Amino acid sequence: MSTAPTLRTPMDAKRLRTILGEFATGVTVVTYRDTDGSPRGATMNSFTSVSMDPPLILVSVARRARACAGLEDNAFTVNILAANQLDLALHFAGRPADAPVPWHEPIDGPPRLIGTTAWLQCRPWRTYDGGDHVLVLGEVECHDTRLLEPLVFHRGEFRRPGLKLLQIPRTVAFDGRPTCEWVDRVHTLHALADAGIDNPPLDI
Ligand SMILES: Cc1cc2nc3c(=O)[nH]c(=O)nc-3n(C[C@H](O)[C@H](O)[C@H](O)COP(=O)(O)O)c2cc1C
Repeated sequence: MSTAPTLRTPMDAKRLRTILGEFATGVTVVTYRDTDGSPRGATMNSFTSVSMDPPLILVSVARRARACAGLEDNAFTVNILAANQLDLALHFAGRPADAPVPWHEPIDGPPRLIGTTAWLQCRPWRTYDGGDHVLVLGEVECHDTRLLEPLVFHRGEFRRPGLKLLQIPRTVAFDGRPTCEWVDRVHTLHALADAGIDNPPLDI
């Protein structure tokens, strides 16, 4: 029988959040139609793919969020935000802005956002207990993409994606010896470029 420690102190929860923040994600806004007919949304980065057959996706929704009741047995769309949509991420995370929301309201589906890099329209599939969250699974009915640069969330901050890495072999063997010096230099160039140093010294 496992004796895994449970999280009891606020300090533990803070540390867990920090560690979870190491996992970089995209940013979505999950949109749906409220019972009063108005379009609503909530920013969520817990989005993940679940199954291809049937096509299922999941979002983990805080029980205290308005979206938790709003998504109950209700169609929704996962809008994957583009890098230039930080304002929308904040707007739907409880920091509403005055600027109008670029809604698109199809007659036969839930409302969605214009200008995202991709969207997936879902019908409700199942929900599961997730502690203080509810795991909401949706079956993807239709989707589209514009292949824009996505918005990224990492260590509690919004970012745009960095440089594409070359798919090259390990540069350091398990015993710590360098295996391929020139590859190491390419990695260094990537790191410098990421840090905004475009003209590195020639002797790196
Ligand atoms: C980057 C980011 C990711 C978030 N991800 C989630 C999430 O996955 N699930 C969730 O319930 N809330 C998440 N939130 C918090 C909600 O966006 C926030 O509580 C929002 O106000 C909920 O709106 P609602 O109460 O109108 O549904 C996230 C917030 C941010 C900034």
